[in-house]
Amino acid sequence: MAGRSVVVGVGHYLPERVVPNAEFEKTLDTSDEWIRTRSGIERRHFAAEDETTSDLATRAAEAALADAGLTGEDIDAIVLATSTADLTFPSAATMVQARLGMTKGFAFDVQAVCAGFVFALSNANALILSGQAKRVLVIGAETFSRIMDWTDRSTCVLFGDGAGALVLELQEGEGTPQDRGILATDLNSDGRYKDLLYVDGGVSTHTTGHLRMQGNQVFRHAVEKLAKTAEIALDRAGLGADDVDWIVPHQANIRIIQGTAKKMGLPMDRVVVTVQDHGNTSAASIPLALSVGKERGQIKPGDLIVTEAIGGGLAWGAVALRW
Ligand code: UT7
Repeated sequence: MAGRSVVVGVGHYLPERVVPNAEFEKTLDTSDEWIRTRSGIERRHFAAEDETTSDLATRAAEAALADAGLTGEDIDAIVLATSTADLTFPSAATMVQARLGMTKGFAFDVQAVCAGFVFALSNANALILSGQAKRVLVIGAETFSRIMDWTDRSTCVLFGDGAGALVLELQEGEGTPQDRGILATDLNSDGRYKDLLYVDGGVSTHTTGHLRMQGNQVFRHAVEKLAKTAEIALDRAGLGADDVDWIVPHQANIRIIQGTAKKMGLPMDRVVVTVQDHGNTSAASIPLALSVGKERGQIKPGDLIVTEAIGGGLAWGAVALRW
């Protein structure tokens, strides 16, 4: 017997405003064709002026709780992955906690940029397996539209806003790879690569700042590191790429997604792809893709899923889980 963190609910929320690529042609030297062919992105959602990350996160959390047939009172902890919290403090997670009517337990944010949801999932699993919580809401939520430099065509066309959430619950398994729940995780970071992807401001540097990225350099690291971390997570679970029903990757660029699947020897019909509709929503992209993948009827109970993500830090990692 072994304790496992099993997914018992999933949900997402996307802001109402949808912005197609053609919008950017009005203000920038770019084209729908360039954005589509270089990134696979066709449209993205942007939050309204008065809509914050904790607003999006709360809506996604409510959807995940409804899917699980639970309320905020049934939850012991919230782990929220974001790099774009409403305020410097308190955490967006505690704001969500209050909005869900949760008066016990604990809530905190995790910041690992685009790899944030993989880090949050891994930490939530550790809380559950170490007996500190029985049911954890794991959320990825971002408003990257707030940190875009709208004059920089090499970044502002790539990102979007949104949120996704999972409810994890402690259940007993057999201790085999056939168990439902999180089977293995792999986390990495290497701070020497800071300059490849960062925001040029923050509390102790006196400004909010804008996202800066050497896209082609990040691209170079992505495919290799993502295929490797996915293989490590699968290997720790006692499984291989052949066992995978769905890769649910971070949705940054269709060419990175395709390259990673190819390196893992898996066809694209085993990959959940949402980048065309959401753009890169950073820490929200994986839970959004899990929720949409379930809605589309792609992800079914018992499926083996590997999620993988890389972003600023660089930070990257993967989680192998049975749905
Ligand atoms: O989620 C966190 C991790 N982030 C990522 O995974 C992003 C990784 N990187 C990428 O997705 C890609 O590198 C990009 C989509 C950002 C760029 O694609 P690329 O094939 O690597 O293009 P590039 O950066 O090498 O740029 C090619 C050309 C450049 O022009 P020159 O120097 O060749 O004349 C750019 O100035 O494309 C130009 N360019 C654009 N042209 C039209 C850059 N942005 C645009 C644009 N519209 N929006």
